[in-house]
Amino acid sequence: MAHIWPIGGGKGGSGKSFITSSLGRLSAGLGRKTLVIDLDLGAANLHTLVGVPYPSKSLSDFLQKKTERLDDTVVETPFENLFLISGAQDHFAIANLPHEQKVKTMRAIMKLDYDCILLDLGAGTSFNTLDFFLISQNGIFITTPEPTSIENVYRLIRSVYFRRIRYGFSVSQFKALEEEAIEQFGEGASGRPEFMMNVIARDYPERFRELQKDFDAFRFRLIINQLHRRDNPALGAHVCRIIEKHMNLHVEFMGNVSYDDHVHDAICQQVSYLDRYPYTKTAGELRAAGRQIFQPAGRQLMLQYV
Ligand SMILES: Nc1ncnc2c1ncn2[C@@H]1O[C@H](COP(=O)(O)OP(=O)(O)OP(=O)(O)O)[C@@H](O)[C@H]1O
Ligand SMILES: [Mg+2]
Repeated sequence: MAHIWPIGGGKGGSGKSFITSSLGRLSAGLGRKTLVIDLDLGAANLHTLVGVPYPSKSLSDFLQKKTERLDDTVVETPFENLFLISGAQDHFAIANLPHEQKVKTMRAIMKLDYDCILLDLGAGTSFNTLDFFLISQNGIFITTPEPTSIENVYRLIRSVYFRRIRYGFSVSQFKALEEEAIEQFGEGASGRPEFMMNVIARDYPERFRELQKDFDAFRFRLIINQLHRRDNPALGAHVCRIIEKHMNLHVEFMGNVSYDDHVHDAICQQVSYLDRYPYTKTAGELRAAGRQIFQPAGRQLMLQYV
């Protein structure tokens, strides 16, 4: 699903919703019919960032079977081409979404007719969050430059990778593979996809080739958000190199988005940051990230001002 972009990060407050709303705004500004979906169940607030303070409908209506079609929960935003499915207002978190509801929601998302769909996935590494990541070969990971946030995003990427490996095996097969990995590489191999892949290459060479092909098709991207002046601007590229080295998984660095107090101001005023402060360094960086993400190589669309 080339047009679905799950967006997540290991840690709360890193800026997932801000980046989702900004990328949504940029994609819509390119004339593409764009939908942002708030899947941060239990802590939904994406609506505020796209100028819809009181959404009349939400994902709850679909989950509670008040409506048959996910399409019916879409609301317009003040921006041309930008639409929203607001997060569920229920008290349960995404981690507790029952399996059947999750599958139903994933299937419904894949059937939606939009040029670009951005999923705000919220923090954490629950199986449900990982499964939503895996409905697409894309994935945008957000972290701040703080080591705690980097650690969490690293763990999240590893969990998505591990979850994908898990799909292809029965419970008993997978358990046997895990035991073998531990026997061969020690206790530390538990939960580490790179060690599992090693064992799979030997025991299931055909399956290994399929998985490898799948991972090669993944287009995972990383954005460092809230970079302060004294932070190392090369950190993102460095993190991608470490992921490649340790997990053998390619993650592309989409650039830094600097910390700017105006983000807070825009959120408090409930206006779009990119529209209110288009000439800031941060707005320029968001547009540069948007260009890299949405513009296929060789196509030079202008994404100067939204
Ligand atoms: N580039 C930035 N510069 C300054 N402040 C920022 C920036 N990005 C995000 N913020 C601030 O961080 C806060 C958290 O952002 P946001 O709600 O997008 O994070 P989140 O990762 O979605 O959080 P949660 O996990 O709680 O959903 C915002 O309210 C905003 O004030
Ligand atoms: Mg959020």
